[in-house]
Amino acid sequence: MAVVNIPDKHLTLKSVSEIETFLGTIGVAYERWENLKQISADASDQEILDGYAAEINALKQKGGYVAADVINIVPTTPGLDEMLGKFNKEHWHAEDEVRFIVKGHGLFHIAPEDGDVVSIEMEAGDLICVPSGARHWFNLCGDRTVRAIRLFKDSSGWTPQYTNSGVDAGYEPVCFGPSHIPPAV
Ligand SMILES: [Fe+2]
Repeated sequence: MAVVNIPDKHLTLKSVSEIETFLGTIGVAYERWENLKQISADASDQEILDGYAAEINALKQKGGYVAADVINIVPTTPGLDEMLGKFNKEHWHAEDEVRFIVKGHGLFHIAPEDGDVVSIEMEAGDLICVPSGARHWFNLCGDRTVRAIRLFKDSSGWTPQYTNSGVDAGYEPVCFGPSHIPPAV
């Protein structure tokens, strides 16, 4: 399950209902899908898409998405730091950012127009929809691994528009769960 933190208020939300309600107030949709056991996190991309076809189709109907794919990031992914460098600065885009985590972890920060910055640590079984235009940034956690289903209306709309606000620098890319301690090097 996700862990939501509001660092400026020293507040942590850990229940699904609290998280759904709170994120709803800043326009971010969150769902917890509990049928993970039916499909291996290491299945092929197509098996993942087929396995979650009903959920994907429901999201397409609800949100107007037309395409879905699977992104796979592991510590050995070529150009990983460059790739992360594109997403870990505050930005927005004309496309919703819809992610269902199949494996690993991801840390979103959202900077609402009015209100405190919110961090959302995602793990397998968590779905998030960051709406178009919302300012946000993304980091990996200590496992530097994330496998996620993505949905798109128009993939060209997903180009990051950077705010260059520097607000992201004020928030450490810290994941809160006990299993996310970065490996010793
Ligand atoms: Fe984004």
